[in-house]
Amino acid sequence: MKKSDGAVVGHLFSTSIPEATLSVLGPRFVAHFLYGLSRCERTGVWVAHDHEDRIGGFIAGTLSRRDSYRELLRRHGPALLLLGSPGVFSPGVWRWGLSVARVRLCGLLKHKYRDATPESAEPDAELLAVAVTEAWRGAGLARRLVEYMEGEFRRWGFRNAYKILTLNSNAPSNAFYRKLGARQIAQNRVRNRIVNTYAKTVGD
Ligand SMILES: CC(C)(COP(=O)(O)OP(=O)(O)OC[C@H]1O[C@@H](n2cnc3c(N)ncnc32)[C@H](O)[C@@H]1OP(=O)(O)O)[C@@H](O)C(=O)NCCC(=O)NCCS
Repeated sequence: MKKSDGAVVGHLFSTSIPEATLSVLGPRFVAHFLYGLSRCERTGVWVAHDHEDRIGGFIAGTLSRRDSYRELLRRHGPALLLLGSPGVFSPGVWRWGLSVARVRLCGLLKHKYRDATPESAEPDAELLAVAVTEAWRGAGLARRLVEYMEGEFRRWGFRNAYKILTLNSNAPSNAFYRKLGARQIAQNRVRNRIVNTYAKTVGD
């Protein structure tokens, strides 16, 4: 992702995934957040352009959400806080902020007390978000973006399963992930919403 992609990608994210907490903070925040994320270790935000350089979609993925959020907070924390206000006063954002801070805190505690935090059974690697502009949907672009991300994961030496979280209410997204061969491994209620967790192995 180039810095100049930020505005369009931020807008695409906020309008096509409005239920995401990030979207509450506005497209400028999302743009900065995703650009920062794209610069983190073993994490990427990949953008598809057409021959006229228009953006058709993007995908974000990481081998460790925990590590990438830690790096993002370290490098861009104050700027993100500034950009995120006044949205930061909404309760949903506070809860999300606390969960990000907990990631950071657990990391620090884990470093100090190595056995304090049990490892989760779910994969660390994650497809964080994928979206395609409406005009481009149904043409196989999201599938190609997933394949591209998996190629990058393999290039980083990763051969296992990664996870995908999506709201149960987002029927197209659930259908899309199932179509790609992801299998559902959990369903949890998070703040009155049902979240499905899928696992997918990187293809050859
Ligand atoms: C979900 C989304 C990314 C799919 O993008 P897309 O480019 O249209 O998907 P593709 O054309 O690559 O589809 C790949 C496969 O999934 C299936 N699929 C895609 N959308 C589907 C839908 N709404 N219902 C059922 N199946 C669907 C396709 O039929 C296709 O299967 P096929 O290859 O066997 O024909 C797109 O609808 C979108 O951007 N939605 C809004 C953002 C979002 O919800 N993202 C997911 C949560 S992060």
